[in-house]
Amino acid sequence: MRVLGIESSCDECAAAVVEDGSRILSDIVATQIPFHEKYRGVVPEIASRKHSEWIHGVVQRALDEAGVGPAELDGVAATAKPGLVGSLLVGLCFAKGMAWAIDKPFVGVNHILAHLYASRLEAETDYPFIGLLVSGGHTIICKAEAFDSIEVLGTTIDDAVGEAFDKVAKHYGFGYPGGAAIDALAQGGDDRAFAFPMPSLRKGEHRYDLSYSGLKTAAVRQLELFRMPGAEATPANIAASFQRAAIDLLLSRLYRAVEDTGLTRVVAGGGVAANSYLRKSLAARGGIQAVFPSPRLCADNGAMVAGIACKYLERGESSGLDLGVSARVPLFRRLTK
Ligand code: KG4
Ligand code: ZN
Repeated sequence: MRVLGIESSCDECAAAVVEDGSRILSDIVATQIPFHEKYRGVVPEIASRKHSEWIHGVVQRALDEAGVGPAELDGVAATAKPGLVGSLLVGLCFAKGMAWAIDKPFVGVNHILAHLYASRLEAETDYPFIGLLVSGGHTIICKAEAFDSIEVLGTTIDDAVGEAFDKVAKHYGFGYPGGAAIDALAQGGDDRAFAFPMPSLRKGEHRYDLSYSGLKTAAVRQLELFRMPGAEATPANIAASFQRAAIDLLLSRLYRAVEDTGLTRVVAGGGVAANSYLRKSLAARGGIQAVFPSPRLCADNGAMVAGIACKYLERGESSGLDLGVSARVPLFRRLTK
């Protein structure tokens, strides 16, 4: 089964052809970074306009590189939610039009479930596992029972972890996108130069929830308060200390979820899953089998959309051509679509 997957939820215009849910025949990502860089953040209006200019060329390249003609596809999929509405609409409408033209099923995909599927493009992952979805828009710790069924255990109550990286990098002019810039800068820094505060541990049903606004404020506005005696406020030291605090917070909640559920397999996804400190820390922690997609598949891509769509199609499930997009999905419950 060959499926074309289109991803346009944010600033990457991406398309890929995947066979049988795991074999990547092509994977094209056209990044809009140069167009948003001067604003040091994604400008939704620019993003949707660029998607509409690029989508045809990106899809054509994905088909050419896969050596697959439209008529040889068994389905066309696109991200339907969550994301920037104008951007989502471009990919979704293109996919629906294409599916209609070739008379093949269309599948609208949930971006969160697609990120958690990404690791399966490289290795078979058995369910259940603890899913860690960390990106510019999401910070979710969940119990994944199947490719289309996750129970959200915890999420951020304010900023997403990637958003915090991006905001700190923006404030100090560390580079854009901020997460990768901080990760690179941190390599040469002392991660104990600043002792940033951890949010107080929440109890009961919120024991897996996270908060990043306090850490972001401490790193941006109250830096001097947290400087250790004798430490210098160099960019590398700020980056390393912020990164350690942000990731250690994430890990504290993740380890709770592992202990409480007894599930020792952790599968990560999303742009922040490329973070070297996160990868190193999880690998060093005994008793956990950590699965990380390669950095390319952590970030937004069409292959994860095509891959998960194959699984729906194998079950005979597809979406109607009247499917719309949603900016958000409710995170207080089980996600199945
Ligand atoms: O999954 P993604 O490509 O798009 C969203 O769905 O948001 O994730 C992008 C996020 C950005 O916030 C970016 O700064 C962050 O992932 N990111 C990183 C790293 N690489 C990308 N954050 C920390 N360390 C990295 N190495
Ligand atoms: Zn994403």
